[in-house]
Amino acid sequence: LLGQRQNLPCIAPLLTTVEETVQIISAQVKGHIPEWLHGYLLRVGPGKFEFGKDKYSHWFDGMALLHQFRMEKGTVTYRSKFLQSDTYKTNSVGNRIVISEFGTLAFPDPCKNIFERFLSKFERPAMTDNTNVNYVQYKGDYYMSTETNFMNKVDIETLEKIEKVDWSKFIAVNGATAHPHYDPDGTAYNMGNSYGPQGSCYNIIRVPPEKVDLGETIHGAQVICSISSEEKMKPSYYHSFGMTKNYIIFIEQPLKMNLWKIVTSKIRGKAFSDGISWEPQYNTRFYVVDKHTGQLLPGMYYSKPFITFHQINAFEDEGCIIIDMCCQDNGRNLDIYQLQNLRKSGEGLDQVYNSAALSFPRRFVLPLHISENDPAGENLSPLSYSSASAVKQSDGKIWCSHENLHHEDLEEEGGIEFPQINYGQFSGKKYNFFYGCGFRHLVGDSLMKVDVVNKSLKVWREDGFYPSEPIFVPVPGAKEEDDGVILSVVITPKQNENNFLLVLDARNFEELGRAEVPVQMPYGFHGTFVPI
Ligand SMILES: [Fe+2]
Repeated sequence: LLGQRQNLPCIAPLLTTVEETVQIISAQVKGHIPEWLHGYLLRVGPGKFEFGKDKYSHWFDGMALLHQFRMEKGTVTYRSKFLQSDTYKTNSVGNRIVISEFGTLAFPDPCKNIFERFLSKFERPAMTDNTNVNYVQYKGDYYMSTETNFMNKVDIETLEKIEKVDWSKFIAVNGATAHPHYDPDGTAYNMGNSYGPQGSCYNIIRVPPEKVDLGETIHGAQVICSISSEEKMKPSYYHSFGMTKNYIIFIEQPLKMNLWKIVTSKIRGKAFSDGISWEPQYNTRFYVVDKHTGQLLPGMYYSKPFITFHQINAFEDEGCIIIDMCCQDNGRNLDIYQLQNLRKSGEGLDQVYNSAALSFPRRFVLPLHISENDPAGENLSPLSYSSASAVKQSDGKIWCSHENLHHEDLEEEGGIEFPQINYGQFSGKKYNFFYGCGFRHLVGDSLMKVDVVNKSLKVWREDGFYPSEPIFVPVPGAKEEDDGVILSVVITPKQNENNFLLVLDARNFEELGRAEVPVQMPYGFHGTFVPI
């Protein structure tokens, strides 16, 4: 059976609480770290999974641990720090889980009497600011982000929290994704939901690139377009969106958030995650918005149900939008990331892995100029280089079928996730390469370079080692798209081996060097490179 694996090694040590490394330590370089690499690789992920006797249930719940690798003249240093969020501080002082997370409902204070504990079920739950998903940038400042209304501005040199920022104080949204897009001038675009008497809306947000006053954060943020959800009380969950030079592409997928269940979760004694469900009786829908005017285009694009967490890239060509994404055929994976599942060993672990949906890169083509005269049943895509089709139906909707951006060899690698591109030069443009992690385990176990034109793969793997999301850094004055390096933090559950920062030549995917640090690190989510 496709993707079935046996005898997976236990990775529980990669999903276990670690100590922070507050004092800067030097890494031991083996091979060669390019002299021109001058800057920080910043990464974040969950690093603390309990307070006192209380334990988090879901991987996404762990407290944000910030990692910093500093590269200069061929040397590397490392430090890490738990984000000093209000959630972290409150839980630390109470020595228990006070604030609920995605998959963990906080219990009432045991010091309250039974009547007070009963009443506290009806209090509005405090929203977490445990922003453990990604580093995002607004007006040149860095913020830790998850998907709630809170972000935490951080000093990337000291990893200290500077300020908590609340999206809902600036615009009428209840949060924003951890994957904004950026124009070359620094203008940031993001998406966030709002819930009103008219139902739920998906809002496209724009944040200007410049500060008017020195101390400002996301001042000047605007909602430029609101898209009503197909079902008022059941908006879709989304983790990212696509952007070309002129358009935003939003994917409404049948992974639904049941607002009624979410609002009543505390009373029912359930975590937020209980309100999310995969409903494949619905198709997946694409919305295209002109990012300059905020106008939603009239095209109604649908495809068979799938789910995407990360878009790879999108661009415009011959009157179409071409959008590439990492896609799964079902959306039941969120439950798989319960910590008790990830920490299993033996057959139990194999079973968890073999029940997970793998993720594959797919291309969709959305024709922009649709006329009433186009005949039904006709493929409206003029692109000779893509087998993706967009067929007009008699009801006027456009039915989109994807092109696979891979051959069978990617199935043997366990599919691909955490896609990254040469973002600075090729975001929103026709491109050739993306990079990602292969998943022959529940966390990434290889690094890959995918050529989206000829669909060939290059793979880096070392048995027993688990690499993080690969970050592309261009060499100064680069001429070619892949002229640069790939940075990834590679970790292992083996006690006698070191974790390391790996540097690959992005062209041939060969190792240039590694910088070993004798520090335990858990498997994380996302990161970014900041030149100094
Ligand atoms: Fe993500």
